[in-house]
Amino acid sequence: MAAVLESMRALFAPAPAFVIDHETPADVVAREKLLDRAMGKDRRKKSSEKIRRGRIPAEGLAFVARDAAGHVIGTVRLWNIEAGVSRDGGAIEALLLGPLAVDQAHEGKGIGGALMRAALTEAKKLGHGAVLLVGDAPYYERFGFFADKTQHLVMPGPFARDRFLALELVPGWLTGAAGMVVASGRKLSCPSRRKAG
Ligand SMILES: CC(C)(COP(=O)(O)OP(=O)(O)OC[C@H]1O[C@@H](n2cnc3c(N)ncnc32)[C@H](O)[C@@H]1OP(=O)(O)O)[C@@H](O)C(=O)NCCC(=O)NCCS
Repeated sequence: MAAVLESMRALFAPAPAFVIDHETPADVVAREKLLDRAMGKDRRKKSSEKIRRGRIPAEGLAFVARDAAGHVIGTVRLWNIEAGVSRDGGAIEALLLGPLAVDQAHEGKGIGGALMRAALTEAKKLGHGAVLLVGDAPYYERFGFFADKTQHLVMPGPFARDRFLALELVPGWLTGAAGMVVASGRKLSCPSRRKAG
């Protein structure tokens, strides 16, 4: 009886306003349009973009939010990086998060937060040690991002130090991290061109 009641409840429960899903190739055009609207065309000039350009996001770490009709209304991706080197000179593997964006018509409904939590939970599950980003500290502090762990790191281009933030998924992962953040993810492969004649 309890099971019947439960399934009746599920049947009549309101559909969720949005769901968080893994991004698929079919989402790429909608995601790019959303990013242009949310962040403007100049988004491609950012230092973080230098790290992302020509690379594929970290395995399993590209997410979208969809509305009830399945349209993309939010996006976040994470990228493999080396966050400088440790005191013994070894490269520190980590992730760079961004861009995070939510369609303006859907802001303030918790979609940004849901995307962040999904991305960070999955990154931790996959065994990653730390996530870095460049963004508004008053927004990202609620997820545990602070500027203290990036004090001795630099981005490959202009950046504001108070917006350069990190979260350790494994405590102490960024201890002693110093130097330049560089891309370490898989490269986008260009389709090979057939030679004429
Ligand atoms: C930032 C962004 C992703 C937030 O998405 P969202 O779905 O509206 O976020 P949530 O609903 O989970 O959270 C809303 C809360 O975040 C706060 N917030 C949103 N942007 C903020 C910012 N830049 N600084 C501080 N707080 C911010 C809101 O005031 C709101 O606060 P409340 O919960 O106390 O009311 C979205 O506004 C966006 O896409 N902005 C344009 C692109 C952008 O700036 N991306 C981030 C780069 S820094």
